[in-house]
Amino acid sequence: MKKIAAITNNLDLTNLPINNPIGANNPPLLNPHADKVAIDIPTQHELQLVDFAVNWGDRLTNTQLDKLVHEGWIVIDDVFEIKALLALQAESGFIDYRDAQLTDGIRVTDIRGDKIRWITKDIFAGFYYLDSINQLAAVLNRALFAGIRHSEAHYACYPVGFGYQWHSDNPVGRDERVISAVFYLNDDWLADDGGALEVVDNHGEHHNVMPAANRLIIFDSNLKHQVQIAHRQRYSIATWMRRDGLVPFVESAN
Ligand code: OGA
Ligand code: MN
Repeated sequence: MKKIAAITNNLDLTNLPINNPIGANNPPLLNPHADKVAIDIPTQHELQLVDFAVNWGDRLTNTQLDKLVHEGWIVIDDVFEIKALLALQAESGFIDYRDAQLTDGIRVTDIRGDKIRWITKDIFAGFYYLDSINQLAAVLNRALFAGIRHSEAHYACYPVGFGYQWHSDNPVGRDERVISAVFYLNDDWLADDGGALEVVDNHGEHHNVMPAANRLIIFDSNLKHQVQIAHRQRYSIATWMRRDGLVPFVESAN
């Protein structure tokens, strides 16, 4: 698989270090712009699960839960503390992405143009994120009998000029995905940057959600939605809470 030579994220991070890959012996700096963001985060080694703790029970008020049931979607803003957000933003700029969908080796960019990387345990910040999502799933199970048994997630990067056409997150005849959630990573996203998530709620109403940093949209995986064309490189974590049991993770060749 060809590596992307230069993914830079919204924090203007470094080019992907192809000759000196990020790994256990070469942890990335989480905050290369300490001059711009006054917080001291040396490396990923210092990250802990607790940095990603969210009191989901408090964030999901009864009003939010009602809206999720009746309209099929909700938004939670200011999800994580700054340390976790910076870690996810930094990681999104360093990882090695692959084209999301290939048919006979050809990228189907007119359907979806994102590049993705599934989160496994060697994707440190992402793995903590996923753990936090599992806590969220537990709250949804308790409150709504959602029946979620595990979660999966991938980082996604939409280059300028790409989006993802209308779809729902369960292919025809499937229903393993119960709840979809997308966490956004770009700071200072403007309406002119495009890239809104357009979702059609349970009543057929359309809503545009801006992909703004530290925002999580949670919606019924069967709702129709699309990602409008982005005019700026757009970073997110697409997440699914599933009703089937955990299967050993195997990354597909695509
Ligand atoms: C998806 C998706 C929405 C978004 O990856 O299936 O619909 O806002 N993403 O990135
Ligand atoms: Mn989707």
